[in-house]
Amino acid sequence: MDNAMMIPEVPSAEDFQQQYREMMQLYSAAVREVRTKVEILDEEFRTRYARNPIHHIDSRLKSPQSMMKKLKRKGLPQTLEAAEANLYDIAGVRIVCNYLDDIYHIADLLQRQRDVELVKRRDYIESPKESGYRSLHLVIRIPVFLSSHTELVPVEIQIRTIAMDFWASLEHQLRYKSNHETTLQLRRRLQSCAEASAALDREMQDIYREISGVSDDEKNTCTDDIFRA
Ligand code: GTP
Ligand code: MG
Repeated sequence: MDNAMMIPEVPSAEDFQQQYREMMQLYSAAVREVRTKVEILDEEFRTRYARNPIHHIDSRLKSPQSMMKKLKRKGLPQTLEAAEANLYDIAGVRIVCNYLDDIYHIADLLQRQRDVELVKRRDYIESPKESGYRSLHLVIRIPVFLSSHTELVPVEIQIRTIAMDFWASLEHQLRYKSNHETTLQLRRRLQSCAEASAALDREMQDIYREISGVSDDEKNTCTDDIFRA
């Protein structure tokens, strides 16, 4: 065997860039599909029930640096093939809801769609992380229809309330702090904020349920009145 045959093939910079562009085009299409699915559900709620369960939607594609860092941390080869095969969060969609019930309702409606395959479900609301982090995480696979074939693309979906989102963005900033003593103290304060915020979410949900119950009764009374008139 001559030496040239033993050298592993390294793609040229142009090949790598083209491969990266095609891969990210797929993930970007998958993100748009998920966003559209969620927007359609939100619009349906607005039309049928005059309310919006979703406060807002964020999405992002993982940067190449972040992909390579994660592969290295997992002890995997730092290649695009390894990223595609092992990372489920290259495409990420975050759905921020008004109420706790909305989180489970949206998750359920998405999971039930015919073209959605559930890969992983982690309920960090039922079992919060040690940090106090709460959210419902789904990894789904959805088909992206291309000119010659169909690709099943994984998308990580994080579903949380406004309060959970507010907490997570503040806690995320703590990760860049280096002073250990302050960090420990801040961590404890954030854990108690997470508890307080979870209690607030539960109470707001209860109040909302009561209010919507009352308005349903009111609607029935009105209808009865119209029939009697
Ligand atoms: P990553 O390598 O971070 O993607 O973790 P993972 O693949 O083990 O998944 P996990 O479910 O733990 O977390 C996925 C994502 O949830 C993270 O990238 C964050 O966006 C978010 N997340 C998880 N834990 C925390 C936390 O304690 N604080 C904050 N602010 N976000 C978190
Ligand atoms: Mg991640």
